Amino acid sequence: MYGFDGKIVSGNKSVYFQADTLSSLIIASGNISHSTKGRPMKLLFYAAKIYDKKSFDPVLERFPEITIEYIDHELDPGTAMLADGYDAICAFVSADVGAETLEMLSKCGVKAVLMRCAGYNNVDVKKAKELGIVVKRVPAYSPESVAELAMTLAMAVNRRIYKAYNKVRENDYTLKGLRGVLLYGKTAGIVGTGKIGAAMCRICRGFGMNVIAYDVYENPSLKDFVEYVSLDELFARSDLISLHCPLMDNTYHMINIENIKKMKDGVILVNTSRGALVNTEELIEGIRLNKFLGVGLDVYEEETGNVYEDRSDEIMMHSVTSRLLSFPNVLITSHQGFYTVEALESIAETTLQNMMDAIAGTVTPNDVTE
Ligand SMILES: NC(=O)c1ccc[n+]([C@@H]2O[C@H](COP(=O)([O-])OP(=O)(O)OC[C@H]3O[C@@H](n4cnc5c(N)ncnc54)[C@H](O)[C@@H]3O)[C@@H](O)[C@H]2O)c1
Repeated sequence: MYGFDGKIVSGNKSVYFQADTLSSLIIASGNISHSTKGRPMKLLFYAAKIYDKKSFDPVLERFPEITIEYIDHELDPGTAMLADGYDAICAFVSADVGAETLEMLSKCGVKAVLMRCAGYNNVDVKKAKELGIVVKRVPAYSPESVAELAMTLAMAVNRRIYKAYNKVRENDYTLKGLRGVLLYGKTAGIVGTGKIGAAMCRICRGFGMNVIAYDVYENPSLKDFVEYVSLDELFARSDLISLHCPLMDNTYHMINIENIKKMKDGVILVNTSRGALVNTEELIEGIRLNKFLGVGLDVYEEETGNVYEDRSDEIMMHSVTSRLLSFPNVLITSHQGFYTVEALESIAETTLQNMMDAIAGTVTPNDVTE
């Protein structure tokens, strides 16, 4: 139960917290006495935020075999030792689940790494396999949540909503700098038509757009209204380009200056997938060439270290993100595509089921093996 005075009351422990973080080292979830009796499986939950606890605790009621301890530390080689005595750990996109971290987790007796997200580019899967650590993830949790944010970003940059909001607050009712374009009848180019990309295709169709797509596999559920084209053709024809493919060797920096030059002038670019799909320095070059009507990014290359942290009091020594934000046609959000009530509940449910399966040795489609 959450107190109103900056205090979490959980079982028989009370812990004060600051702002949106769980500032204590360890907060046991549920009634502590359960952990010694009916809840033998111990899960250490790294980089926990208030909203994680809020979404996991109600779902935990349905998994009486599991005890969760939430800590606010991020998982990295230095904090992996905190998992000593735990059966599994739970981590997120910004964790460092590289070889060194995994070695330490293995020494601590951890049997499973449970990623509470779809992407796992921050996990050394090969190393985990060598060490006999099972890696599981949440491949799907409300793909529409991410797709809806992608369209939100596209529309917000198109109609300069962030500027309009501030102008009206300042009693400035002029329209200067707010002119957008119609999406109806224009062409949306969707890169990657898996779960989220397919949802984005459906949203774009709802806007009355022509939808073209590029993927290494065609999604049969989209055949009625999506035209698959080559990546070059997609760049050349699209008025809105939205990225929904995973980050891999062959997609790293797929948005580079060479490809930006193939795009139409006045294109809108949205990335809700992974930051490194875009070469940020070359994106800035493209913005300076006036290529883009708008750029909406929920993910960006420098996000590690920033994501879900309040750094508002810090002086940024060097930041390519700050440079990006100096442009009037760029809007950046901080990896919030997944952040809806429905998605969080689904993540909690799947993660705890993944723990049950991992400990039981049950292989499921949620296993990450390569
Ligand atoms: N912003 C957020 O909060 C958030 C939340 C969840 C997922 N994501 C990101 O969204 C991405 C997409 O998620 P999803 O659930 O739709 O994944 P998915 O696996 O269902 O779909 C990915 C699609 O990309 C395609 N693909 C693979 N290689 C490609 C290539 N070289 N070029 C084009 N397409 C290629 C695959 O064939 C597949 O159809 C994830 O990789 C993840 O990084 C972001």
